[in-house]
Amino acid sequence: MSTLLKIENLCKSYPRPEGSIQAVHEVSLTVERGEFVAVQGPSGCGKTTLLLAAGALLQPSRGRVLVNDVDPYSLSPGQRARFRAVNVGFVFQQFHLVPYLDVLDNILAPALALGAKDGRRTRALELAAQFGLSDRLRHVPSGLSTGERQRVALARALLNQPSLLLADEPTGNLDKQNGQVVLRCLTEFARTGAVLCVTHEPQAADHADRVLNMIGGKLQ
Ligand SMILES: Nc1ncnc2c1ncn2[C@@H]1O[C@H](COP(=O)(O)OP(=O)(O)OP(=O)(O)O)[C@@H](O)[C@H]1O
Ligand SMILES: [Mg+2]
Repeated sequence: MSTLLKIENLCKSYPRPEGSIQAVHEVSLTVERGEFVAVQGPSGCGKTTLLLAAGALLQPSRGRVLVNDVDPYSLSPGQRARFRAVNVGFVFQQFHLVPYLDVLDNILAPALALGAKDGRRTRALELAAQFGLSDRLRHVPSGLSTGERQRVALARALLNQPSLLLADEPTGNLDKQNGQVVLRCLTEFARTGAVLCVTHEPQAADHADRVLNMIGGKLQ
């Protein structure tokens, strides 16, 4: 087994005028290739903060993150963006689709970071088909349902065939059938890569190899 994600003593606090908020406190976690790990916990306990820090998107206040044995925060911003594009797929809780790009171009967006947009078109179309979006390719996000946006966000995260997939409530807006499609996809992904998934759904936790509970910024 190889370790795809290693988090050591991670702390993240957000400075606020009224005093800083300690969102994540001394969290250590290892996710091996082949693992699907779910994180559960009440609203505000630090799940998204942990995922963003793991995904090279939010510099920790203390502690260390290693993705494929590389500390992304030791890289320059440009190198880190490229490292992320190659290694990490991220499904945001609020999707963060580009509002003026249609479905196909949103799915293709990570290829732009690698200058490989044309070469990924076939894969983007396959992912759109897998998630039931083939007849929505020319819609911009405002012309999609919430669940459709969520599926575009997952397709985009998978485009560059990353080794680590970080997903923040990826089935939160889906009906049972589409939720199953997404969960099967995450399980399949974890055969060759690794998944760290925030979820409140018992159904999603059932698919995971390990379920971790987070309370007050700490993993139990
Ligand atoms: N940018 C920020 N500035 C200040 N405080 C923040 C910021 N982002 C998050 N927080 C605070 O940090 C804590 C953890 O937030 P986080 O978004 O990680 O929680 P969460 O577990 O993902 O919650 P939810 O289940 O509602 O998505 C919360 O108390 C939140 O108010
Ligand atoms: Mg969250």
